[in-house]
Amino acid sequence: MQAGPILVYSEYTADLPRFERLLSAALPEAEIHYARSLDEAIPHLERATIFYGWGFPAEFLSKMPKLRWVQKMGAGVDDIIDAWPCRPEVILTRTDGKLIAPRMSEYVLGAILNRSVRFDLARRQQAHRQWNFFEIGTIRSLTIGIAGVGEIGTMIAATLRLLGAQVIGWRRTRASSPELEKIFVGNAALPEFLGRCDVVVLVLPLTSATRRLFDADVIDCCRPGVHLINVGRGGVVDEQALLRAIEGGRVGHATLDVFRTEPLPQEHPFWTNPHITITPHVCGPLVPADVVPHFVSNHAAFLAGKPLMHVVDLDRQY
Ligand SMILES: NC(=O)c1ccc[n+]([C@@H]2O[C@H](COP(=O)([O-])OP(=O)(O)OC[C@H]3O[C@@H](n4cnc5c(N)ncnc54)[C@H](OP(=O)(O)O)[C@@H]3O)[C@@H](O)[C@H]2O)c1
Repeated sequence: MQAGPILVYSEYTADLPRFERLLSAALPEAEIHYARSLDEAIPHLERATIFYGWGFPAEFLSKMPKLRWVQKMGAGVDDIIDAWPCRPEVILTRTDGKLIAPRMSEYVLGAILNRSVRFDLARRQQAHRQWNFFEIGTIRSLTIGIAGVGEIGTMIAATLRLLGAQVIGWRRTRASSPELEKIFVGNAALPEFLGRCDVVVLVLPLTSATRRLFDADVIDCCRPGVHLINVGRGGVVDEQALLRAIEGGRVGHATLDVFRTEPLPQEHPFWTNPHITITPHVCGPLVPADVVPHFVSNHAAFLAGKPLMHVVDLDRQY
């Protein structure tokens, strides 16, 4: 099958040369155009049939009359799914979460160990040349709950279990979850799941069902002093409710990589809260060498008229 031109889009200028090098080596016959901005993309919108990118507004796609397949470079599609402007026959795929999951697993592990080993206390003492004994914790004594046991959540669970943590999970369906010691399914099971966890890791997609799901009532189901780690999407958490829960002691610490508004606004109260650790959406970077092979395999399937991997269900929104 003749696939037509590919338009590759990333606003990260440093990324594009890396994508270009990998894609031109893997697909030497393909006509590929690269754009870092809407202005650079405009000359190619009319003819491109395949769009591979991230960080673009959904309405951008409505200006592409020949479009037949959109592949997001990342694993999430929440930024385009609400306003998905394409004809029903246009396929939307996302990247394989397993390609991003190793770094995300290490981020979660680091957040948990940082709190249990208490390096922050050690550094404070060091600054004053203090030699005061303190007892460090062990991950083996923790029950860690993974909310969202998909491709990424599953690898996080497997990593934590290797170190002896009790790992339980929460998901929407009864799909098999062998990495978990126990699985809880659906909203009705959420309070019982949260009530068992010392650490809760959110790895959920942002959909109409998960938006602000972690509100005051749900957070109140957590164990007092819980460590909440959000690596999924910021919109899943009611940020005001989280702040109140931290002030009231229900949440002992929050490690947040994702926020309702990104970049996090300068005046946001999270910045100065000593019980919140902020990272600027860094835990799952889209490293070109990691994600391009997935696109190349999907491109071969597309040319052969075969089913693509990681097709997004537009009704389910992930
Ligand atoms: N911080 C970062 O840098 C970064 C990087 C990559 C991805 N992410 C985020 O991580 C998310 C997960 O990625 P993934 O590849 O693991 O996705 P995935 O394989 O599609 O897994 C999503 C998981 O969430 C569960 N889920 C969805 N809606 C739910 C609901 N209403 N109630 C309970 N569980 C629900 C699903 O349950 P079922 O399987 O039972 O349906 C599934 O276990 C992405 O959507 C993205 O937003 C963040």
